Order: sequence, then C-alpha cells, then structure tokens
Amino acid sequence: MFEDLLRGWDGEGVLVRFDEPTQSWMLVCLHSTRLGPAAGGTRMKVYPSPHDALRDGLRLASAMTSKNAVAGLPLGGGKAVLAVPEIPQGDARRELLLRYADVVASLGGTYRTACDMNTSEHDMDVVAERCPYVFGRSEAGGGSGSSAPATATGVFHGIRASVEHAFGSPALDGRSVLVQGVGAVGRRLAEMLAGAGARLVLADVDESRAKEAGAALGAETLDPQDAISAEVDVFSPCATGGILNEATIPRLRCRIVAGAANNQLAEPADAERLAKAGILYAPDYVINAGGIIHLASLELLGEDRTRLEERLRGIGNTLGEVFRLAEAEGISTGAAADRLVEQRLAASPGA
Ligand SMILES: NC(=O)c1ccc[n+]([C@@H]2O[C@H](COP(=O)([O-])OP(=O)(O)OC[C@H]3O[C@@H](n4cnc5c(N)ncnc54)[C@H](O)[C@@H]3O)[C@@H](O)[C@H]2O)c1
Repeated sequence: MFEDLLRGWDGEGVLVRFDEPTQSWMLVCLHSTRLGPAAGGTRMKVYPSPHDALRDGLRLASAMTSKNAVAGLPLGGGKAVLAVPEIPQGDARRELLLRYADVVASLGGTYRTACDMNTSEHDMDVVAERCPYVFGRSEAGGGSGSSAPATATGVFHGIRASVEHAFGSPALDGRSVLVQGVGAVGRRLAEMLAGAGARLVLADVDESRAKEAGAALGAETLDPQDAISAEVDVFSPCATGGILNEATIPRLRCRIVAGAANNQLAEPADAERLAKAGILYAPDYVINAGGIIHLASLELLGEDRTRLEERLRGIGNTLGEVFRLAEAEGISTGAAADRLVEQRLAASPGA
C-alpha cells in the first residue's frame, strides 16, 4: 500500500501525477533538501504496479541523499520515476517528457533531475525545453554530456583504494578483476583497468558485447551465470542492483567487491554478511558517485575538468576513510559509510 510505504519513509515528500495520455505515473520523490536541492535522475520503467514504482523511487531517493552527502556536494537527494505501461518512443515519448518537465518546473528548483535507467541526455534536452532544473543535457544541447566515463573513473580510483586497503599497495598490475556488465560504465572501467595492468575477466548477459570488449582489451570472458563465484581479487558489479544477498554472498570467491551498480545490497544486513565473510565491500553510493560529481562540478559549480578529476580521485580518499572507520569501530563498511553521511548531514547549517 502507498500509505505503508510513505509511513515507513523518512523523506520530505513525494509529488504524484497521473499522466492520462500515456496512462503513466509520475512520482517525484524528495528525500532530503538539507544540503541543497534534491538531485537525482529520472528512471523510466515498466513496473508490475505503481506500488513497486513508488518503492523503487523512495529507495533510490534516499540513496541519492547518501551519495551526494558523502561526495561533499551541495545537493540533497531525490529521484523521479516515470512508471510507464510500455517504454514510449517518438512523439509520445517527447510529449510525456514535456508534461513531466512541467511537473519538475512546478517544484521551483527543489528537485533537479538528470538521466537514469531508460532516459538519455537527449531526453534531458527535451525536459530542458520547459524546465531549467536539469543536469546531463547533451553537449550539443548545452550540457556536459554522458556522465558514465566519470562514473568509471571514480570506480577505478575506488578499486585502487580498496586494493591498497586489502593488499597494502594500490598497484593493479597483475591483480585480477572481474567486471560484471560491460555497458557504458563497465566498458570504460575495463579499459582503465587493462591500462593499469590488471588481469581482466568480463561477463555480460549480452554475449556479443562481452566478446567484443574481451577481444579489444585482451581479456578473458566468462558465462554471466558464473561471474558471482569467480576466483578473483576484485569483483566489480557494473550491471544491476540487488546482486549481493543471502544466497549469493556465500558463493563469492573474491577479496573485494567494488563496482558501479546502484543498490548492490539486497538489504543492509548484507554489509555485515560480507564483513563476516572477510570480503572488503566498497559501499556502492560512495564508489559510484562519479556521475553526479561530473554533473554538479561542471554544470552547477562551474568547475573545469582538472577540478573534476581531483574530485573523482577524492572518491578513493573517501573510501579509505570509510575502511579505516569500519576497522576502528568494528563495524561493516556499509555502516561506516552511513555514519559519514550522518556526520555530514548533522554538520550542515540547516541541521
Ligand atoms: N551511467 C552512470 O553514470 C552511472 C552512475 C552511477 C551508477 N550507475 C550504475 O552502474 C550500472 C551500470 O550502468 P551503465 O550506465 O553502464 O548501464 P548500461 O545499461 O550501459 O550497462 C549495463 C550492462 O550490464 C549488462 N547486464 C545486465 N544484467 C547483467 C547481468 N545479470 N550479468 C551481466 N551483465 C549484465 C547489460 O547487458 C549491459 O551491457 C547500473 O547499475 C547503474 O545504475 C551508472
């Protein structure tokens, strides 16, 4: 029920609009504006029910508060979901996005949107026709383009920091890394890892994509079913969320989990399960913040690429802080990251 989901949520509010022409639900979830406008992407997806869409939006909006806070950005957390009966194309898609733009504009900048699953920089160009509160337009449309390369760079620095913590040196030469999902982020990450001398293993449900990347980078490829139990130093999930759970964690044969996917843990207790299994987990919202850092740095803060690169390197430093805090307090890395978020929120002027 909508009521139960909202009662159990600690966010600020949700704007709900039913879009009659496409029979879609628009849900703009504002989790926190404590550190600045609630920022997070617009996910377009076919959900089993509006209830599932709301649950996804609330969870993702909360994660954006944590991600933006720990990344040191002057942004709060939000997320929008367009729960569509089928993914629209052509004019129907454009008109849906324009009506959605009016909804975002009506919030007067309290929420700033960007791309997410099934929405592209070209969709953000359309939203920007009617609404100024948009990150991630195409470069031709006046934006800073795809944030996937920055996400990959942040994950690369995060993997180095994780390897340093686990093995005493950040060097990747000869370290084995499995990249699960070689899409926009995973493919770029794989290139950087190969460049740093890592021994790469690639897995993707799109076999041709994995094979092409494997051939280009001199990497081994693996059946995606076997990815979770690969014997590697680093398992890097760059595909879908929820892959670390009660059933999969006992199958892991890696020392480190460090990747780009959002919401990797099925539930918070999975961070404890990983810690008990002796696996160093780089909390997802810390290591995958490169995308929002790219957007905020270039489009909100007016910084140049040199400053952006410094911020992306900072992801490695933040992870080091998380790992040290976890060790000092005897808590999981997930709990340590949550503690950093609480500290940053508590230190804000509005607290
Ligand atoms: N793009 C960004 O800037 C960004 C920022 C933060 C987080 N993320 C997260 O990182 C992940 C990857 O994002 P992306 O932009 O590269 O997406 P993408 O759609 O470009 O790539 C995902 C890849 O994963 C593959 N895949 C899907 N399910 C799989 C499975 N079970 N096993 C193996 N491969 C599978 C797909 O075939 C595809 O090649 C997502 O979870 C996304 O939410 C992305």
